[in-house]
Amino acid sequence: MSIIYDDKEKIFLINTIETTYAIGIMGQYLVHLYWGKRISGKFSINDIMPYVSRPYASIFRKDVNPYSNECLPMEYPAFGSCDPRYPAIEIDYGDGNFLNLEYTGYIIYRGKHKIDSLPSSFGTENEVTTLEIELTDKTKNTQVVLMYSVFEEMNVITRSVKINNLGTEDIIVDKVLSASVDFFENDFQMISLSGAWARERHIEKIDLHHGNTMIESRRGASSHQLNPFIALARKGATETYGDVFSMNFVYSGNFVAGAEVDHYQMTRMYMGINPFNFSWKLSPGKVFQSPEVIMVYSDEGLGKMSRVYHDFFREHICKSKYSKKVRPILINNWEATYYDFNEEKLIKLAKKAKEIGVEMIVLDDGWFGERNDPSSSLGDWYVNKSKLPNGIDGLAKKIDEIDMKFGIWVEPEMISEKSVLFGKHPDWVMGSCSEYISEGRNQYILDLSNPEVCEYIIDVLSDLFSSAKISYVKWDMNRSMNEVNSRYIDNDRQKEVAHRYILGLYYILDTLTERFPNILFEGCAGGGGRFDAGMLYYMPQIWTSDCTDAIERLYIQYGTSLVYPALSMGAHVSVVPNHQLGRTTSIETRINVALLGQFGLELDVEKCSDEELSHLRKGIAKYKELREIIQFGDMYRLCSPFDSNSASWEFISKDKKDILVFNFCIFTNANPKFSFLHLQGLEEDAIYYDEEHNIKLSGSVLMRNGISLLNTEDYKSEMLHFKMI
Ligand code: GLA
Repeated sequence: MSIIYDDKEKIFLINTIETTYAIGIMGQYLVHLYWGKRISGKFSINDIMPYVSRPYASIFRKDVNPYSNECLPMEYPAFGSCDPRYPAIEIDYGDGNFLNLEYTGYIIYRGKHKIDSLPSSFGTENEVTTLEIELTDKTKNTQVVLMYSVFEEMNVITRSVKINNLGTEDIIVDKVLSASVDFFENDFQMISLSGAWARERHIEKIDLHHGNTMIESRRGASSHQLNPFIALARKGATETYGDVFSMNFVYSGNFVAGAEVDHYQMTRMYMGINPFNFSWKLSPGKVFQSPEVIMVYSDEGLGKMSRVYHDFFREHICKSKYSKKVRPILINNWEATYYDFNEEKLIKLAKKAKEIGVEMIVLDDGWFGERNDPSSSLGDWYVNKSKLPNGIDGLAKKIDEIDMKFGIWVEPEMISEKSVLFGKHPDWVMGSCSEYISEGRNQYILDLSNPEVCEYIIDVLSDLFSSAKISYVKWDMNRSMNEVNSRYIDNDRQKEVAHRYILGLYYILDTLTERFPNILFEGCAGGGGRFDAGMLYYMPQIWTSDCTDAIERLYIQYGTSLVYPALSMGAHVSVVPNHQLGRTTSIETRINVALLGQFGLELDVEKCSDEELSHLRKGIAKYKELREIIQFGDMYRLCSPFDSNSASWEFISKDKKDILVFNFCIFTNANPKFSFLHLQGLEEDAIYYDEEHNIKLSGSVLMRNGISLLNTEDYKSEMLHFKMI
């Protein structure tokens, strides 16, 4: 059994194959005992948890617990219980009272319940076991349930928190984080993924200092700027060595995550819905459940942590039937035509792409209403007949006739002022309680906290998706929230709007993905502005970034791979000079970078030279041959562009028979030194052979000695394919 309760010692042990997480009950309070490599044997709380009484530390309730909570590692710290560190939960009772949570019971069961209205991890009764620990504020009858689900084989524990108002009065939840973990040390680096539009998820590492080191989103989406992921790496930890403790949020809205080092050099790590501009009125009999946090501990550095996440996403987060299927190679017309296309042009593009092996064409922005630039028509999801006289159906049929799949772009959460929909429903705009409403990319946001708006979106998209043979939908969202208010919501609940918006979005996605299980959905938010586990639950791949420059993509895809698997990252070959950065890189390098994710094209193949077409044809054939290894194998990062002038990756098929190595030189020097790429994860004694480069070496030589490379040319790349012989 992966969860054990030791009644004598009052200890919960949550075990995966390689990790242990332990919680103790101390005088009715829950203390955090341990998180790390698996431990065994009997122990008591006092055996492993030091305590000293410290000056200035107050004691909350001497009758229940003679210790100060400020000096203990708390499992789920509540504001108002003599623990002045960053709390996980704050409830406003409206009468000056504070939450006083006591342990009142637990249950353990096989399997895991779906979290109501939110995406969450899933698994069978053989794969996951759940522990619910019940805490109660007996004065007010508020029940807080801490939920831990353990995926034993995967080495993953997930957490979420449920609040039941069993009392007789409304209560206001001002803050409810999903996970909080206290450590006795502070010798950590915090690793996070930061960026901007077209520069998403660059790796940032900082030493912790006294006080709070926090990342957050206040933009209404998980954001380009900071991804809902943090890791605390023990000092000295690397890609292959050392302890790493990490959290990733299954949520697409405002989040907070961080680590606070206190005056005793203890560290509190946490993650949850951002309490900024958030509160939730919970009436008697009502329940609020927080989104889920995925917690991964690795004793072998960041690489192992990433592989645990990658497997977990493929097996237990992405619910789409395509999550474990090989994905098609697509061409997207955005950078090829922008808004300037018609049926004839699209068919030509599709035919030419088909000739070189592409399997699907995706029609991007500009096919609906009167949209010829970003200034109008969002909300009017009917076809522009002057561009597509035979409608979407007519176009899709012609694409089908040339034996290609057809996909379409939508941005359903948005509305343009210049649209028929806005004329009919100005009150459906989020922010319509404000005197001024800001525009972002000329558009407003629809108020998804209003169920009528959600039903409209579901109806209009259901009509569209069933009107033609649509195999793929790219779901975009192109601005941040500013005026977070709703006409539909009562005035005293306006701080619920940002979360209600996300609940509305999830309701729409739940309904549509259930109704159209054969459509492969791709997420997008101005590229990677909402690249998170919440979206991946519905959409197993996401357009990683609007930047298609091969070199910038090395950083973006390297950073993204810290958490998210290659098969979740859309990666397309585009033209040079690159449209975003103006940089010129070779077609080989552009192809090799796109091979590291969901391969596709984002260029006008009609304008490609014969030489470029020949490279693309070969690249596509290669991807078809190798995609199972990239999409479903294990990924090892060999060399970081953030720490050097090059970047290297390795993918290994699960049976360890095929090894792909990618190396990219970013900048070279005169007379460069040799770099040795030390492969990882191979069978020591097996012999591996790369036919093209005629290299035949044992696993141990490839791993210990490595392959020597001379990075002699800026932006040059190579790919090696070893087979076990
Ligand atoms: C966003 C997307 C792009 C493209 C445009 C269309 O920026 O990220 O890929 O779809 O919108 O307007």
